Amino acid sequence: MRSHYCGDLRTEHIGQDITLSGWVHRRRDHGGVIFLDVRDREGITQVVFDPDREASFALADSVRNEYVIEIQGLVRARPAGTENPDMATGAIEVLGKELVILNKADTPPFQLDEHQQVGEDVRLRNRFIDLRRPEIQRKLRFRSKITHYIRNYLEENGFLDIETPILTRATPEGARDYLVPSRTHEGHFFALPQSPQLFKQLLMVSGFDRYYQIAKCFRDEDLRADRQPEFTQIDIETSFMDEEGIMGITEQMIRGLFLEQLNVDLGDFPRMPYSEAMQRYGSDKPDLRIPMELVDVADLVAEVDFKVFAAPATDPKGRVAALKVPGGAELTRKQIDDYTKFVSIYGAKGLAWIKVNALETGAEGLQSPIVKFLGETVALQIMERLGAQNGDLVFFGADKAKIVNEALGALRIKVGEDLKMHQCEWAPLWVVDFPMFEEDGNGGLTALHHPFTSPSCTPDELIAAPEGKLSRAYDMVLNGTELGGGSVRIHDQTMQRAVFKVLGISDEEAEEKFGFLLNALRYGAPPHGGLAFGLDRLVMLMTGSASIREVIAFPKTQSAACLLTDAPGEVSAAQLRELNIKLRKTP
Ligand code: AMO
Ligand code: AMP
Repeated sequence: MRSHYCGDLRTEHIGQDITLSGWVHRRRDHGGVIFLDVRDREGITQVVFDPDREASFALADSVRNEYVIEIQGLVRARPAGTENPDMATGAIEVLGKELVILNKADTPPFQLDEHQQVGEDVRLRNRFIDLRRPEIQRKLRFRSKITHYIRNYLEENGFLDIETPILTRATPEGARDYLVPSRTHEGHFFALPQSPQLFKQLLMVSGFDRYYQIAKCFRDEDLRADRQPEFTQIDIETSFMDEEGIMGITEQMIRGLFLEQLNVDLGDFPRMPYSEAMQRYGSDKPDLRIPMELVDVADLVAEVDFKVFAAPATDPKGRVAALKVPGGAELTRKQIDDYTKFVSIYGAKGLAWIKVNALETGAEGLQSPIVKFLGETVALQIMERLGAQNGDLVFFGADKAKIVNEALGALRIKVGEDLKMHQCEWAPLWVVDFPMFEEDGNGGLTALHHPFTSPSCTPDELIAAPEGKLSRAYDMVLNGTELGGGSVRIHDQTMQRAVFKVLGISDEEAEEKFGFLLNALRYGAPPHGGLAFGLDRLVMLMTGSASIREVIAFPKTQSAACLLTDAPGEVSAAQLRELNIKLRKTP
């Protein structure tokens, strides 16, 4: 049905008789001549029908956008002056001889080049049309190239692709589970895997040594631009390798991928301890393209007569930090008010600021609602610590450290974007030395990574003082996005039990939930560790997309629904009865 793809035709094909199959992208009637832009996966070619061939001319006249057609014709050079340098096929056109309509199409719910005029809901509901857009086709093809490269790389390095179950037990990655009721085991449920974590560890115990899988994971969590309820991991696990080995081999994979696909050399990835990342950037996934940093000023404001600052400055869990925005004195009152609203999303109760107008005149040259509270000396000391210059603006955050980090960390990214402060296109790094635990908000502790991550101390040391203990976990961060994370795992059961103990998981509960893992650790578990990348995020970054929905063929909405299939849907009473499920309210 075709001799060439539409997008493949070039001047070297001039004079050839060819056959194309594809969709009518656009039809134009130019005073007696009909132009059809015919589109397929590889691109668009202009086909011209003139009235000399009456039958095909009439047919060409009758087609509408998105009709599926086959044409036979002759490739020829476009007449001088009508070439289109913006099109790959812009130097040629096809003189149409025969036309067959393979299928008609109703008027589509939106025209491909008008997708921006319709809401994302319309596009998702009609995703089969939306996916015809060349831009989105490019992205999905790029995704396929990425997985191809990754598979090759891992296979060449001795990794085996092994599938793990989708119907399984809960895996603790910190999100809610998607549950699947069992018909054959009344009142029992499978959980869809939040990751293949436990199975890949078992594969190491079984001696497979190097495993990988491009694995679907399911997490019922609050969605954002870089999160989907169903997403894909490049999941990796190795035995007899420490963190250096694992970071080395995965860093080389990502570097190679960027070099091959984007011709970008990411260089050696710097490493930064978690504590330093929080201190300097207020985030465990700092965007290093933006040069601004958070600077602590608690020691300078501990004694001032301004409770908003003095209280958190003397609270062990508090933080008072400043963010200097070079050239920020130009920001208007309205812009500052908008940023104040922005940080309130993160729980900040305000956003104090100082504009540096004329430092040579001392505190006189500082414009601010708070200098009068801080006192001139302290205000100038702060300016000195920040190395502030005329024309700068300084923002302040004062609260619990968590709030200040989140608020100023996010503000840093926002202001950096608004004022176009990015200094390079790509900024990768490893964040290392994560704390093993964090507070769970109810007086207990929860694993920062997951409870199978190896602490970097002994079981006794861990139990004696769990807070502040570090883990052997590492995250790969690119441009402020967490691309992947992993760790060296616990491979002995004493340590695993110690971690469960700190987490308040009783022996019975541990046995009930992860008995199979504890059991496996008893029978010769090798030292092992690994990492998982978010494939969707990787593709999103490499294609410059604003959301991972743009690089997933059939994504879900922000409320975790599939508009195309209208899932999740209701089920029949009979099905529910068979599953022994009774709904509290009939929908
Ligand atoms: P983690 O939970 O950090 O680790 O997940 C690994 C990577 O998966 C991606 N990711 C997501 N992408 C899209 N939507 C989501 N909802 C989503 N959640 C996570 C991120 C993240 O870095 N088992 C461990 C890995 C290991 O220890 O080997 C795990 O799942 O890019
Ligand atoms: P107030 O005395 O509450 O009017 O606050 C004086 C200035 O401090 C205003 O610019 C507020 O936006 C700012 N501010 C109030 N609370 C905080 C806070 N927790 N962190 C930073 N700035 C704050």
